[in-house]
Amino acid sequence: MTEQRSGPERSALTPTFDFDGDYGAGYETLARALIPGYLDTFEMALAMLDVNLDASAPTRAGELASAVTDSAPRVMIVGAGTGIEMVTFKSKRPDWQCTGVDPAAQMIDIARARLMEAGIDDGTSFHHGTVADLPEDEVFDAATSFNVMHFIPDDGAKASFLRSIADRLQPGAPFILFDLFGEPGSSALERDYAAWRAYWTVRGFEGPPRDAFRKKIDNGIQWVGEPRVHELLAGAGFVDVRMFYRGLVYGAWVATRV
Ligand SMILES: C[S@@+](CC[C@H](N)C(=O)[O-])C[C@H]1O[C@@H](n2cnc3c(N)ncnc32)[C@H](O)[C@@H]1O
Repeated sequence: MTEQRSGPERSALTPTFDFDGDYGAGYETLARALIPGYLDTFEMALAMLDVNLDASAPTRAGELASAVTDSAPRVMIVGAGTGIEMVTFKSKRPDWQCTGVDPAAQMIDIARARLMEAGIDDGTSFHHGTVADLPEDEVFDAATSFNVMHFIPDDGAKASFLRSIADRLQPGAPFILFDLFGEPGSSALERDYAAWRAYWTVRGFEGPPRDAFRKKIDNGIQWVGEPRVHELLAGAGFVDVRMFYRGLVYGAWVATRV
């Protein structure tokens, strides 16, 4: 397993969600409790990648004929976090080459330790930083981004984020996006967000931790509606965008790099 560090040491995106601090350390426990379908979505993503990597295999074969490298798919996991995507993928598809990208050193440390402990770290690597910092010649056959873009403002930054992912993908490569979504200020989002809070109650999430989490969501999430998700993906060079999962205010889409 190799690790590549680049750029200045820095914490992840916002001070509201401090992935190099306490929030990052407790993140996965919270995610498992509060994100509807959290664990299932990684297995659904794996199934989607299986099918869509098969569809893009001829392109990959053409490229490999000249590049002479391992034919195992190279998968970029944007926002590797505590490593749940990498653990899910590598336990079922040990041949995949998985590169986790994350600007929070703490999260990379957790993910790396977990993969090593499970004995599935062979063929994994980490990039400490953002996708834009990756060397230009590093290309992938597929990518995922779970729970990252909803922290990024829609002031050109979401568009750049998706563009930097598209720039690192082979033509025909599948990309999976999983994010909070909803049209800001709409009554639909108001009701769906209320339903998500009711889900917190169902899951027994109460008291000061709930109040603190609500404050973070209210201050730190950069909501966009589904039409805008499609527009952003199309603008970044993705086609054939389909939602394959929705859980309250969370959505998952699969798209293909042109
Ligand atoms: C909410 S966690 C999600 C972790 C994992 N993908 C999951 O769904 O459990 C978000 C992760 O994205 C990382 N992150 C924040 N900004 C990023 C960016 N611009 N590029 C890549 N990762 C980023 C954070 O450091 C954090 O580890």
